[in-house]
Amino acid sequence: MEIREIAEIKELREFERIAAHSHIKGLGLKGLKAEFIADGFVGQEEAREAAGIIVKLIKEGKFAGKGILIAGPPGSGKTALAIGIAKELGKDVPFVHLAASEIYSAEVKKTEFLTQTLRKAIGVRIREVRKVYEGEVTELDIKHKPHPYNPYYQIPYSATIKLETSEDSKKLSVDQTFAIQLVQQGVEIGDIIAIDVDGGRIVKYGKSERVIKKSEEELTAEKPIPLPKGKVLKEKEFVYVVTLHQLDLARAKSSIDIASIFFGAERKEIDSEIRKEVDEIVKELIKEGKAELVPGVVFIDECSLLDIETFAFLNRAMEQELSPIFIFATNRGIAPIRGTDYKSPHAMPIDLLDRLLIINTRPYTEREIREIIKIKAKNDKIELSDEALEYLTQLGVKNSLRYAMQLLHPADIVAKEENSKIIEKKHVERVEKLFVDTKKSVEYVKQFEKQFLEY
Ligand SMILES: Nc1ncnc2c1ncn2[C@@H]1O[C@H](COP(=O)(O)OP(=O)(O)O)[C@@H](O)[C@H]1O
Ligand SMILES: [Mg+2]
Repeated sequence: MEIREIAEIKELREFERIAAHSHIKGLGLKGLKAEFIADGFVGQEEAREAAGIIVKLIKEGKFAGKGILIAGPPGSGKTALAIGIAKELGKDVPFVHLAASEIYSAEVKKTEFLTQTLRKAIGVRIREVRKVYEGEVTELDIKHKPHPYNPYYQIPYSATIKLETSEDSKKLSVDQTFAIQLVQQGVEIGDIIAIDVDGGRIVKYGKSERVIKKSEEELTAEKPIPLPKGKVLKEKEFVYVVTLHQLDLARAKSSIDIASIFFGAERKEIDSEIRKEVDEIVKELIKEGKAELVPGVVFIDECSLLDIETFAFLNRAMEQELSPIFIFATNRGIAPIRGTDYKSPHAMPIDLLDRLLIINTRPYTEREIREIIKIKAKNDKIELSDEALEYLTQLGVKNSLRYAMQLLHPADIVAKEENSKIIEKKHVERVEKLFVDTKKSVEYVKQFEKQFLEY
């Protein structure tokens, strides 16, 4: 139970991190050209086009052992760009999103944490025949209960689901592991999915042809999936990607030590022996033609927080045969490398910088800020009056894009409280007063510093 709770908390953190970028669906490119607005992305054309080239290289396997650095001022879309890259790569390419500070807060040794991170970013595509339940979801009921540590947060607890094929149907009840996946993958009635019981996984193929035909929308970007034939429960060749880290964990479980069972503790470190065994197994599978490697991406945000030891580790990792692709992001110019007295461009060692292609993001124009706010609001189903949009845009210009974006949801709450379906200017003004921007906050605290000094 405990292990599961820890896993849940990690998943929730991941969820919160992505929420700010939920409107970013890709890089919005036509070929290698960026459109002004597409896939939720606005402007920043050059950076998006550069990123598009990187995506092509990664997909063609021509970028392993290399990396990119996204450098630009705060709020200029560096993280958004990395997420756009992840979306373009598709869900089969592992993408590990790391805030540099996590390296220090982890309860494991830094090298262990980094090794795990690297192994999370290397996928193995495996072919296997398995028993699965497969069909169109025709009924779905997900039960929730309060989060164990945060009762205001509801988490999926269990679910019942009905699957249909052209000649069969079956009702299943599934436990929390599956219920969480159903929510995470946004499974809805009308989706075609497969449930791999032994593997504990759910795979969503897409919307059923049957449902798309019935719906009123004439145009949809989704590729319709034909209704599966045969029985719901069937043997099927499965092709899926697991990461080396998942294989390490699975391997470690079968030799779990007594103490960890007794205390119910999460496995913090993985024996190097176990990793060697996993590598051997994977090599064997590759030889037999049952598997292939999929190098993924490690994205390290705010990388100026990394210290010299970590940089040395990463530099070495990039030289190795089996290396993921690294994407760094920073908003620092010339600054000291953490753990040294040396100043360096982007606070990174020169030898590492030398391996990286650098993409710059630039500050946004007023027009871009307006469009970004519009897109985010639409994505989060928030309606703004023209005046409110204009006011937020000006806040974005004066203070920062992120400040303006962060006021959206609070303003929505205030509007709803006043029974207004749409956010008016006065709602924005109200939350602007309640949540100050950095400049105002610093001025405010300074004013008190003075009072203290004049004692
Ligand atoms: N060009 C863009 N198009 C759409 N949304 C953007 C764009 N640039 C930034 N955003 C959004 O603005 C917010 C701040 O951008 P972010 O990527 O976090 O900036 P940075 O990482 O450079 O500090 C995020 O919610 C992000 O998704
Ligand atoms: Mg960022």
